[in-house]
Amino acid sequence: MKSILDKRPALKAEVDKVAEVAGYLWQKGWAERNGGNITVNITEFVDDDMRALPALTGPRPIGKTLPHIEGCWFFCKGTGRRMRDLARNPMANGSIIRILPGCGSYEIVADAPVAPTSELPSHLAVHDYLLTKGSRYRASLHTHPIELVALTHSRKWLEKDAATRMLWSMIPETRAFCPRGLGMVPYMLPSSVELAEATIRTLEEDYDVVMWEKHGVFAVDTDIMDAFDQVDVLNKAAQIYIAARGMGFEPEGMNDVQLRELGEAFGLPK
Ligand code: 13P
Ligand code: ZN
Repeated sequence: MKSILDKRPALKAEVDKVAEVAGYLWQKGWAERNGGNITVNITEFVDDDMRALPALTGPRPIGKTLPHIEGCWFFCKGTGRRMRDLARNPMANGSIIRILPGCGSYEIVADAPVAPTSELPSHLAVHDYLLTKGSRYRASLHTHPIELVALTHSRKWLEKDAATRMLWSMIPETRAFCPRGLGMVPYMLPSSVELAEATIRTLEEDYDVVMWEKHGVFAVDTDIMDAFDQVDVLNKAAQIYIAARGMGFEPEGMNDVQLRELGEAFGLPK
């Protein structure tokens, strides 16, 4: 079957990374049914032949006007589609969309008219925000990591940076590879514009990864593999905490001096 990825190796490599990460999400048990979604800003891979392609659908509203993504192109997981299917066949379970002039709507361009994720308002609002900041980040990931979601069922861990401090202190890699920590967004209706706006506000506080209370995480990074790595590192720290609690004790955690030393040695923010 013909695909927009044919003879476009750089674009194909981006979509292949999405498929690889989708497989990891399923294997980790973070992607029940259609749980989670991925979008990648692929505008840098768009050529004149792609720009000339007719749309597969008419314009569809985003639900928000996002002035900085005008003319941008995105790969998006399809709504209701399974990560395990995205892993096997990304272009049949996701689609490529372009944002139309006016920045309030998009059309689907390739390969099939697969409607994008219901969390599109959050994803596109985040991409818009990243462009305003001049960020190099091009990928955003929403997933349901079991142990991190479990933490958000306790008021204690919803306090600003309480979970960040605990997770950083479980194993040095967490501080090093998730240096901005874990932001918290209070519970809001999935796929709502309010959730999108709260996500931006929390990312603006200088986080790369934010929790949606009792729902999942939302992470951004240069590509989808790096976004996945940040969530993976954080969830591993949560698992270490839970393992210690399961052995019947409260883990000691690295102390503030050790964490500061790590921050200085690696030149880490915060
Ligand atoms: P979609 O199937 O629409 O991407 O939704 C999955 C999800 O996790 C919603 O929060
Ligand atoms: Zn979700």
